[in-house]
Amino acid sequence: MNWGTIDKYAKSLIKEAGHKIRMSFFSSIDIDSKADANDLVTNIDRQIEQFFIQRIQRDFPGHRILGEEGFGDEITALDGVVWMLDPIDGTMNFIHQKRNFAISLGIYADGIGMLGYIYDVMNDDFYHAALGEGAYYNDEKLPILENTPLENAIIGVNASWVAPNRRIENEPIAKMVHTCRGTRSYGSAAIELAYVSSGRIDAYMSLRLSPWDIAGGMVIAQEVGAIATNMLGDKPELLGQDTFLVAKPGLHETILSNYIRLK
Ligand code: IPD
Ligand code: CA
Ligand code: CA
Ligand code: CA
Repeated sequence: MNWGTIDKYAKSLIKEAGHKIRMSFFSSIDIDSKADANDLVTNIDRQIEQFFIQRIQRDFPGHRILGEEGFGDEITALDGVVWMLDPIDGTMNFIHQKRNFAISLGIYADGIGMLGYIYDVMNDDFYHAALGEGAYYNDEKLPILENTPLENAIIGVNASWVAPNRRIENEPIAKMVHTCRGTRSYGSAAIELAYVSSGRIDAYMSLRLSPWDIAGGMVIAQEVGAIATNMLGDKPELLGQDTFLVAKPGLHETILSNYIRLK
């Protein structure tokens, strides 16, 4: 497998898709909901996923594709090469804000993350990494992350996990929120992962993410020494939904051992 060739191919495909998304603002966008009224999807999410799939199937016929909108393959095992794609991560932002969304792509070989990409489309910010070769923000190599104490950390956390909910004890999380320097919630798991990897925030957590939300970002995070696990401290599930915590090394341990109590 020539990963250098695949890397170049994937980067240009993502840039082309980003251009299509920017152009979509000049046409009308159809909005539907999926599991509930706030779980939004548009014709653009679907078109962009189909664009990727047609190209990948044409040019890499032996590879399989897992895409959020379901146009790819049904993936029940991670053998061979699997492209894990979220055509628009942050659809709510795409619709309401026309910014703060990303294309997220991870390319895995037998379950190992080989290439990872997060493209913040409206800012033209590209985060990318290849296994063992470091991570980049555009053309700039990202430094290895150093620990930050919780008191100095900015944590990406959605307010719904701090309020009483059925998945996690909210009191310890509320304590964490009071102890840390500040919190942010950007509404795109991929962008939040990219921000942890580039040191813009120090940790990000979610109680429910899917493989396409994290596949690209995990390759990038790993290359800068961030720790990405589920909230039990294990490798996040790439065949279904899971909890998620990514952070600088010591901070990951602090949050996991002291502030996370799953119900
Ligand atoms: C969502 C975003 C959001 C996260 C949700 C995801 P989507 O992805 O990443 O930040 O909190 O859990 O489902 O549906 O916009 O691709
Ligand atoms: Ca979605
Ligand atoms: Ca997503
Ligand atoms: Ca999506």
